[in-house]
Amino acid sequence: MEKLKYACVGAGSVADYKHLNGYSKVEGVEIVAISDPDIEAAKRLAEKYNIPHVYTDYEEMFEREEPNLISVCTPNYLHAPISIKAMEKGIHVHCEKPITLSAKEAYEVIESKNKYKRKFMIGLNNRFTNESFFVKRYIEEGYIGEIYHVKTGWRRRRGIPGKGGWFTNKKLSGGGPLIDLGVHFLDLVLYFMGYPEVQSVSAATYSKFSNSNSLNSWNYAKSGDGIYDVEDMAVGFVRLKNGATIDFEFSWASNIEGDYNHYEILGDKGGIWFKNGQLKVFSEIVETLIEIVPDTNYPKSPLNEFEHFVDCIKNDKEPLASAEEGAKLMKIIDGAYESAEKGKEIVLG
Ligand SMILES: NC(=O)c1ccc[n+]([C@@H]2O[C@H](COP(=O)([O-])OP(=O)(O)OC[C@H]3O[C@@H](n4cnc5c(N)ncnc54)[C@H](O)[C@@H]3O)[C@@H](O)[C@H]2O)c1
Repeated sequence: MEKLKYACVGAGSVADYKHLNGYSKVEGVEIVAISDPDIEAAKRLAEKYNIPHVYTDYEEMFEREEPNLISVCTPNYLHAPISIKAMEKGIHVHCEKPITLSAKEAYEVIESKNKYKRKFMIGLNNRFTNESFFVKRYIEEGYIGEIYHVKTGWRRRRGIPGKGGWFTNKKLSGGGPLIDLGVHFLDLVLYFMGYPEVQSVSAATYSKFSNSNSLNSWNYAKSGDGIYDVEDMAVGFVRLKNGATIDFEFSWASNIEGDYNHYEILGDKGGIWFKNGQLKVFSEIVETLIEIVPDTNYPKSPLNEFEHFVDCIKNDKEPLASAEEGAKLMKIIDGAYESAEKGKEIVLG
């Protein structure tokens, strides 16, 4: 069988440590090109991964290289236009999170995917871990019972990505830690719950580090216009139509002990606790409260994000992190920002 021709759009950090690293290990994939307006960045990764062709313009790369699949590893505002342009050209798309800047844009991606019959997957890597594989199965096999409340979050003590660069510019990023970190863990808990319909969302956002000279462990952006008009913390509460609720907190910087991501899933038969890769499950057996620490080294998650997407393309399967789920998630994110702005709960249509 002929190899799939793969190209990468964007030559920044995630293109390097995640997508090129990932696809370079998948059999049956040939990395043919990379594009980035920052030609030096593109050349650096071309050399590292032995990529024969380098472009500054992704449209020219699509025309000349005719790749079968691409990764979109650019600032968030480019996710929708690049993905749509690629699918129009018959290219399958593995797009980084967040899927888009808004639910409206996510529906445009879905329309294009359906029109051109292409595969589209969001780079929600947290779904592919051993822990997530265990939790999903544990819930599906009924150990938790009915899930009625979930608490989740991702908080950093100091970790504003590229302060003053595209991450902190709302026009380019869509927002702060809610759209950056929140899409990972809100997605994860909704995925565990089977993506139930959302009733309403209430949120508050704070921007306390924009003008501060306080330490930022992730440093200032190398380039950018210095704009910081996003939140550095978001908290909120989601009501689902099935009666369950989600409580969330996401921050890039807070005066707390240390960084952590977490979820706590409460069911009427059991509970699951996750913090920074550590997992515990709780329930009651023979009139005794029990706490189990699963060894998630075995069995390992059978899915590798990159092999999985190639399998979806070759064997006409539905990708695990779909555009449809991405649109549902973006409705929550849109609702949360609207709620924070208006200071009231937003009922989602
Ligand atoms: N899945 C994850 O855990 C994860 C982690 C980090 C970042 N991300 C996502 O990946 C994306 C990129 O983040 P990053 O940290 O690599 O950012 P980055 O700033 O390191 O890299 C972005 C690159 O895109 C390039 N770019 C800008 N316009 C372009 C264009 N028109 N065509 C091609 N390239 C263009 C920039 O020059 C830059 O080199 C973001 O959407 C981010 O949310 C995901």
